[in-house]
Amino acid sequence: MKFFVDTSDLDAIRDLAALGMVDGVTTNPSIIAKSGKDFKTLIADICALTPGPVSAEVAATDAAGMIREGEILGAIATNVCVKIPLTWDGLAATKALSEKGFKTNVTLCFSANQALLAAKAGASYISPFVGRLDDISSDGMGLIADIRQVYDNYPNLETEILVASVRSAEHIRQSALIGADVATLPPEVLRSLIKHPLTDSGLASFMADWEKSGQTIG
Ligand code: E4P
Repeated sequence: MKFFVDTSDLDAIRDLAALGMVDGVTTNPSIIAKSGKDFKTLIADICALTPGPVSAEVAATDAAGMIREGEILGAIATNVCVKIPLTWDGLAATKALSEKGFKTNVTLCFSANQALLAAKAGASYISPFVGRLDDISSDGMGLIADIRQVYDNYPNLETEILVASVRSAEHIRQSALIGADVATLPPEVLRSLIKHPLTDSGLASFMADWEKSGQTIG
């Protein structure tokens, strides 16, 4: 399972990449606005930190505008993945940009039918938002299982499932069990995956016993 990091924080991306945990990066207009940085410069800087796909989202809402912006974003670096919202115009842009050889990430997916449409349009990735479904008392992980089954039913569909709006380690555990291809995680959620109280207490106990032994290794 691949991990993308859902952030524009260059230090966080660099630190996690050094641990081998970054297979790509995702951003969205909210993340970019929060950064306060120039969009295209920031995407170029992120692309230099990882060879994996870096999602940069179009701002236009009409197909022609999305295609034009997608080509501009795609020209920033070879690993830019053009992120496109799940509308009919978005699907038209996805088809056009995919046929031109751009990687595409269709975002704001909340149903298996939407995921099917995105795959038929040729999306490289589909981004179902599990956290936002959970927020409205719907079943985020159930959607991932549904999309996995739909895509597996039709092996000619090559779109990868990119679990988005991840809020917890439990989302990752379930995504991995279901067989999602990718999850995009906020850095703090990725860092939380290592946590287990028995690891901490076990290490403390081993270190205390080692100290008592009076030995050294090197
Ligand atoms: C990633 O592609 C999405 O933009 C992101 O995961 C959304 O997360 P949020 O629902 O926590 O804003």
